[in-house]
Amino acid sequence: MLRKILTEPDAILRKKCEPLEKVDTETKKLMDDMLETMYAAPGIGLAAIQVGILKRLVVLDISKGEEKKKPIFLINPKIIHQSKKTSVYEEGCLSLPGQFAEIERPAECTLKYIDYNGKEKELKADGLLATCVQHEVDHLNGILFIDYLSKLKKDMIIKKLVKQKKGIERVIV
Ligand code: NI
Repeated sequence: MLRKILTEPDAILRKKCEPLEKVDTETKKLMDDMLETMYAAPGIGLAAIQVGILKRLVVLDISKGEEKKKPIFLINPKIIHQSKKTSVYEEGCLSLPGQFAEIERPAECTLKYIDYNGKEKELKADGLLATCVQHEVDHLNGILFIDYLSKLKKDMIIKKLVKQKKGIERVIV
């Protein structure tokens, strides 16, 4: 089932998410929905908070076009190490439609998480995956990539998004 993706400005996107107690059928249904919603968008990462659920849950897939899909489910992800070395990617976000900016983040990170089957796992990420993981973990703490920009740039993007939202509402109403 496709879920509605919340877009900035929305107070929910600024909340801190709670850890999941257990991986049950309800959690799996939500993760399946999130993956379907992410593929349909299309995007390469989606956090539960972006569909209005304040739980520490992320789906990712950085495989490209023709490649076999490689979904990753992260439950209660915790970054335990970040490299001093940094890298820059132009980031976008399904909650910031049409907005992109170059963001500098640690180039490598290691995280602990619980997988789709409830097993504890560790993941060492670099390149695009490292950026993606850190972007998603930020979501769980109410942080968006625009928070790393200057106030001027951030305000400009939010202004554009408010305008876009108004435009969409005008058509619907
Ligand atoms: Ni995002």
